[in-house]
Amino acid sequence: MGNNLLKGKKGIIFGALNDMSIAWKVAELAHEEGAEFVLTNAPIAMRMGEINDLAEKTNSKVIPADATSEEDIEKLIEESMEILGGKLDFILHSIGMSPNVRKGKHYTEINYKFYNQTLDVSAGSLHKVLATAMKKDAINEWGSVLALTYIAAQRIFPDYNDMADAKSLLESITRSFGYHYGIKNKVRVNTISQSPTVTTAGKGIKGFNEFINFSDQMSPLGNASAQACAEYCISMFSDYTRYVTMQNLFHDGGFSNTGVTQQVIDKFEE
Ligand SMILES: NC(=O)c1ccc[n+]([C@@H]2O[C@H](COP(=O)([O-])OP(=O)(O)OC[C@H]3O[C@@H](n4cnc5c(N)ncnc54)[C@H](O)[C@@H]3O)[C@@H](O)[C@H]2O)c1
Repeated sequence: MGNNLLKGKKGIIFGALNDMSIAWKVAELAHEEGAEFVLTNAPIAMRMGEINDLAEKTNSKVIPADATSEEDIEKLIEESMEILGGKLDFILHSIGMSPNVRKGKHYTEINYKFYNQTLDVSAGSLHKVLATAMKKDAINEWGSVLALTYIAAQRIFPDYNDMADAKSLLESITRSFGYHYGIKNKVRVNTISQSPTVTTAGKGIKGFNEFINFSDQMSPLGNASAQACAEYCISMFSDYTRYVTMQNLFHDGGFSNTGVTQQVIDKFEE
């Protein structure tokens, strides 16, 4: 049972691949909180078909769109406003993919064609979504746009590879567009920097299982789950956070401000 935090709000949710996806949890909770939305994902991700179960459960429509295609995004935004009967109040960008990570290329020897794809899919797509929404005046005043990021944008985590560069760019686009869209129409743009989470994208990172345990022991509250991340996203879409914009918000159980924990020190005892 929700609290109607998003009652009357309309949105678009990118990136629900399966029930582990952070976007999947956000969609379930947004529905519970009274929002109406369109679900979208890359046409290739539709093949799995799982998104249709989510659509049925949340009473929403699915529109396939490759987030790197300006044409697809235009069509997505136009059709979403038609389906929802008005402008949008929230957008979740929950998209990440690196062909270099997938193909196991070392950061110092990446393939540059793949590199451009990493940056385009994982960061440039946010610029395209915001630029298209602005051009079409598709977001209501005080609307909220969120993208998901990781602390490798600020610090080196070697196996995160070129996704670290993509996340730095994503956070920079968030600040820049947050400024311009704030001035133009009081639209806010933020990133949430989430703990490592077991999802299809997460598991693609080398040594992920060991790393997730390390992160858990380095966080006073432990790693934040996908469900907890969804709860934070809902609060950021609600009217209770209207003056938060252009921020990178850590949702990581305290990891980002921890130098070391006793638990980790104990592991080095002779
Ligand atoms: N899982 C983690 O440990 C973790 C931690 C911090 C941040 N994040 C971020 O959270 C976001 C969501 O990832 P997730 O962990 O839920 O994994 P996920 O694999 O479930 O989601 C990634 C999504 O990106 C979509 N995508 C890929 N290419 C696309 C394209 N061209 N157009 C449209 N969509 C495309 C995929 O189909 C998939 O739905 C990503 O930005 C990821 O980097 C994840």
